Amino acid sequence: MTTKTAAITAVGGYVPEHVLTNADLEQMVDTSDEWITTRTGIKERRILKPTSLGTSFMAIAAAREIVQKKNIDPTTIDLVIVSTATPDMPVSSTASFVATEIGATNAFGYDIQGACSGFLYGMSAAAAHISSGRYQKVLLIGADTMSSIIDYTDRSTCVIFGDGAGAVLFEPNDEGLGLQDEVLRVDGKGREFLKIEAGGSMLPASSETIDARKHFLHQEGRPVFKFAVSNMAAAINQVLDQNNLTKDDIDYVVAHQANKRILDAIAKNLDLSYEQMLVNIERYGNTTAATLPLLLWDYESKLKKNQKLLFTAFGGGFTWGATYLTWAYNT
Ligand code: ACO
Repeated sequence: MTTKTAAITAVGGYVPEHVLTNADLEQMVDTSDEWITTRTGIKERRILKPTSLGTSFMAIAAAREIVQKKNIDPTTIDLVIVSTATPDMPVSSTASFVATEIGATNAFGYDIQGACSGFLYGMSAAAAHISSGRYQKVLLIGADTMSSIIDYTDRSTCVIFGDGAGAVLFEPNDEGLGLQDEVLRVDGKGREFLKIEAGGSMLPASSETIDARKHFLHQEGRPVFKFAVSNMAAAINQVLDQNNLTKDDIDYVVAHQANKRILDAIAKNLDLSYEQMLVNIERYGNTTAATLPLLLWDYESKLKKNQKLLFTAFGGGFTWGATYLTWAYNT
């Protein structure tokens, strides 16, 4: 059996209609448009309303765009992976519900929890399933309803996050295009800096955990910022070295949109030009597992066959990595 590469062959996306602007946040917490813009680069983010629609609502919309655009018979989809830190429910998986709702009745599915690196990890899983030769169509969705776990009295986190979903289809490629290589890592010590303390097996939900606001995302921004910059830059350098590439060989860097200053620091660290970095953080904020596919969704028309893309992300866990992929189609 010849091992085939797994290429992205379609992109879909969904962001909720409701826009939460920096001016709106000024009314909610002690902050300012000036602080948010200069410290994060974010101007507005999208919020799912009502929250009870769940992450699957956005994931289904993103997946349906692909099914319609590519005119796919959904029964031919083999696997649905949903990368998310905000599943509809702790049990059962969001992927199961999404697969059924889009009519993927012959598929299996599962969720990946890699926080902001969830989509990067999902790319690895999707490509491995294709390269095994056993599956032909793998739908990978990055989707998060961050507004469901954000404390809107905590100014240091509530200004950063937004909701959204992006999806890609992975298929085998005869020309060797698609996912080429990756460097993926975790460091469990990082959970002290970025976590939701309660609601898991260590601290199940109780009236005390609710009163102590322990079901919201807690982040120590400054250390996370430093780890994010150094680890993403190191992973990018390693994947470039492993493939005998220099930064000039790369057409676009598709980097997790956590903070514009993190993107600037990575660009500076690696001496990348502004044109090489895809950026949309000003409109969506940090949508966790959705940032990478939403970049592809926004910039799809710019991407050309054979171009070299470097994906990178960093998130809770800690989780991080870099993935080298060649683009497989022209729009
Ligand atoms: N408005 C005004 N002032 C604020 C705000 C706000 N929204 N938030 C914090 N401040 C204040 C702080 O109170 C502090 O004031 P002090 O100096 O009087 O104590 C000051 O601004 C500086 O605070 P820092 O936390 O040091 O601010 P920083 O410049 O680091 O920005 C931020 C905070 C945006 C969170 C940044 O640290 C960051 O982006 N961190 C990395 C985020 C990241 O990459 N996360 C990983 C992915 S997320 C995931 O996996 C789910």
